[in-house]
Amino acid sequence: MLEQDIKEVLVTREEIQEAVNRLGEQLTKEYKDKEVVVVGILRGASIFMADIVRAMDVYLEIDFMDVSSYGDAFESSGEVKIIKDLDTHLEGRHVLVVEDIIDTGRTLKYLVDLFKYRKAASVQVCTLLDKPERRVMKDIIPDYVGLEVPDEFVVGYGLDFEQKYRNLPYIGVLKPEIYQ
Ligand code: IMP
Ligand code: MG
Repeated sequence: MLEQDIKEVLVTREEIQEAVNRLGEQLTKEYKDKEVVVVGILRGASIFMADIVRAMDVYLEIDFMDVSSYGDAFESSGEVKIIKDLDTHLEGRHVLVVEDIIDTGRTLKYLVDLFKYRKAASVQVCTLLDKPERRVMKDIIPDYVGLEVPDEFVVGYGLDFEQKYRNLPYIGVLKPEIYQ
């Protein structure tokens, strides 16, 4: 049913699984001796978050934050509003932010600055997808990237169009008639 709306598959289930395994190994080394708070950004990162923490063989805590970034369906504005804040006190803690995709980088810029302001001991970023061509905040360079994608609007594996398609098990591009 959902598949009928997809023009092209950009990243298959298998490619996602490989990226998760590779990142999990790297993050296991990174946080072996540093207890980390893994912060998933709702709602897009929820599915990647569930997979990545299970690929990390270290002691960790998880927490979630929900932010809305004003703008239209296709581009964030940089004005970020906190819908749900963390329950964890970050002072002196190592923080790993887990995102679904970095586009302009505005959302992440806001969050990284906020966590530093809250005196986190370190703040690193792990994103499943990166769209480097679209970056506006040039100083936002993710520490861990699953895959780079071209400048196309993608859905699936947590990513939505108008709140739908998050449950697709792969990453795809919608047919133009769906969003016109
Ligand atoms: P940024 O602030 O422009 O980097 O936007 C990041 C957020 O915009 C992501 O967390 C996504 O929720 C959303 N986003 C950016 N590009 C896409 C896309 O291609 N498909 C779905 N959501 C996207
Ligand atoms: Mg998001």
